Amino acid sequence: MDMLGGRSPSDFLRDYWQKKPLVIHQAFPGFTCPVDADELAGLSCEEGVESRIVIENDGGKPWQLHNGPFSEERFSLLPEQDWTLLVQGLDHWVPEIADLLEHFRFVPNWRLDDIMASYAPTGGSVGPHYDQYDVFLLQAQGRRRWTFGGHCDQNSPRVEGTPLRILSTWQGEETVTLEPGDMLYLPPGTGHHGVAEDDCITLSIGFRTPTIDDLLTGFTDYLCSRSDAANHLNDPDLQVQDNPGTIAPGVIDRLQAVLAEKLEDKRSLALWFGQYATTPKSLDVVVPAAEPISNDEFATAARSGGQLRWNEGSRFAYHEEGDETALFADGEPFLLKGDARPLAPLLCAGARIDMSALAGFTDDPALLGLLTTLHNQGSVYFE
Ligand code: SIN
Ligand code: CO
Repeated sequence: MDMLGGRSPSDFLRDYWQKKPLVIHQAFPGFTCPVDADELAGLSCEEGVESRIVIENDGGKPWQLHNGPFSEERFSLLPEQDWTLLVQGLDHWVPEIADLLEHFRFVPNWRLDDIMASYAPTGGSVGPHYDQYDVFLLQAQGRRRWTFGGHCDQNSPRVEGTPLRILSTWQGEETVTLEPGDMLYLPPGTGHHGVAEDDCITLSIGFRTPTIDDLLTGFTDYLCSRSDAANHLNDPDLQVQDNPGTIAPGVIDRLQAVLAEKLEDKRSLALWFGQYATTPKSLDVVVPAAEPISNDEFATAARSGGQLRWNEGSRFAYHEEGDETALFADGEPFLLKGDARPLAPLLCAGARIDMSALAGFTDDPALLGLLTTLHNQGSVYFE
């Protein structure tokens, strides 16, 4: 399959990623959508599934947003056309959708957000807007006409009277109609507007990065959770001041030195970031195994041909530094040393674990224990 239209992943990353849009006709030839509109509607009625309905003209009000979960009756109250149902995290609930992610492993696991599905009857759209994410918009069913192009930001004029950030004067630069299997890549900040030409399902494979706010609050919260965070600064060298009101420059130097020492602790930063970046989006999906298994039971299942795979909502990543490798699974860190270190890249390479390579690790009781822990915490299961 030629999902980048004849480009290698490296060429795509160099020429398009975070730079400019790309239309790829028949990225997934013969694609058939693993879910239909009724299944999406069903999911949007479930607690724990994040869903929204956007209506272009809702009793005279523009672009109104309704948050799920919905009742079945909600759907009979919708207009004939010009609305959209959005279901977030579809990869968490539908294994065939999660499998699509294996085609996108040229982007690091930690960059993945999720796969969102939209269903719209003719004319349905979520309005002209831009996102902060990199997104691959895969046309899964029906046809959608996309207009896209031009950089937008928080200063771009917006429609009043709607909770959504709908662009009011943006025009777009290109228009293309996508059919099942076609895909549009958009970098963050690119204006876009996709209108359903008929009953239409689009899958958004989204990739995120943290904001500076996420980094600062996340890392400082992590540092503050450690025991030395309760220590007070000291000043045994305090001098008499001319004015007691002065906060002397030396005090600020001292504060800066203390904070810099914490922020420059690279090992802590890596440990926090791995945990942060692999924390599951939905705690309703990654749940401890209903029946925890023993190390022996894990070893038997692995040896007797069982295929181990990530939970659909699980996130795996690892970081190698010095003489240790930190493996992160669903926000939990596991430190590996020596011969155990190659287990991390093996577990992180893709959703289905290479079982013959894994066999080399299951004889070590500590690693067998780690694998059993991953199973029992709900991060992996035998298919
Ligand atoms: C949609 O699928 O209708 C919206 C996806 C997007 O514009 O990000
Ligand atoms: Co968008």
